[in-house]
Amino acid sequence: MPKIIKRKQLAPKIVHIDIQAPDVARTVQPGQFVILRLHEQGERIPLTVADFSRQAGTISIIFQEVGKTTIDLGAMKEQDNIHNLLGPLGQPTHIAKLGTVVCVGGGVGTASMHPITRAFKEAGNKVISIIGGRNKEFIIWEKEIGAISDQLIITTDDGSYGVKGLVTKPLEEMIRRQEKIDLVVAIGPVIMMKAVSHLTKSCGIKTMVSLNPIMLDGTGMCGVCRVSVNNETKFACFHGPDFDGHLVDFDLLMKRLGTYKTEEKISIEKCERCENASH
Ligand code: FAD
Ligand code: NAD
Ligand code: FES
Repeated sequence: MPKIIKRKQLAPKIVHIDIQAPDVARTVQPGQFVILRLHEQGERIPLTVADFSRQAGTISIIFQEVGKTTIDLGAMKEQDNIHNLLGPLGQPTHIAKLGTVVCVGGGVGTASMHPITRAFKEAGNKVISIIGGRNKEFIIWEKEIGAISDQLIITTDDGSYGVKGLVTKPLEEMIRRQEKIDLVVAIGPVIMMKAVSHLTKSCGIKTMVSLNPIMLDGTGMCGVCRVSVNNETKFACFHGPDFDGHLVDFDLLMKRLGTYKTEEKISIEKCERCENASH
């Protein structure tokens, strides 16, 4: 069984775990994710591989406690076993030498951006990273992202650290200054990926986003993760999760993410630990 070998609290309700998973660590590529289950009857949840060590056989996952399974995972300790873990899943991010790549990470999405940022840097691009959080406490992996970027810009919604405003603010300023940008990659809340894509579409800057619909099997069989891209139905787990942000129907994605709101609320209410975690 995959074992948790390290656990670290990064911010309120944001947890970093390293898991012993040699088969995944051996082959995983930037942009790919795993699906894990905490126990036999447990829900299957997709989480991005934020880092990996092929030598040590470990993968790093950074997750936010938002519902029953992520709260239960957050309560697990070092040396605890995860029931099972499937991966690597999804298509790896297409990495190439393009020139200047701007990597935009919103909240916990910053960690998912980490291996992609590193791969673009290693491919010889100039990498400018913009990472944002609600306030200083929610800025994660500043040191890690800074170490693999030519330039790092930090934003906080309340101005408690870095530039005051959303991640789109410095990007908008770069576009206004007509800085040369060959690709923008955005990962974070759907509303943020929509805003970034809207901004870059008007000036024709190619933009890639990583979509996070509800998933079930994660292998293209069930259709639960369907998204609309260029008016075509795609399965995010199989065709993605990366897609051209200018072609994604973000409003449909947001609507579909709310499909099980009632059931998710009931499942939180039934879970004593979740009750305590929310206070
Ligand atoms: P639930 O009770 O199922 O849901 C609680 C709340 O979270 C609800 O408001 C619900 O609408 C929302 N939610 C449920 N599923 C998703 C989803 N897929 N995306 C966004 N919101 C959701 N989260 C991380 O914290 N770190 C990651 O690295 C990460 N990587 C992901 C990679 C992929 C490919 C996908 C599809 C999702 C990823 N997510 C990530 C989101 C994560 O899977 C969900 O937060 C998780 O499934 C919620 O499960 P739960 O039982 O704790 O909460
Ligand atoms: P959050 O709500 O705290 O927002 C983080 C940052 O995103 C903000 O500080 C801001 O800079 C930016 N942002 C938010 N709304 C914006 C808008 N309307 N316009 C422009 N910028 C905006 O985020 P959080 O609570 O950390 O949630 C992170 C989200 O990322 C979750 O929804 C999670 O499911 C998602 N996520 C996605 C993936 C993926 O692979 N796609 C991976 C991890 C997490
Ligand atoms: Fe079933 Fe993608 S999760 S097809």
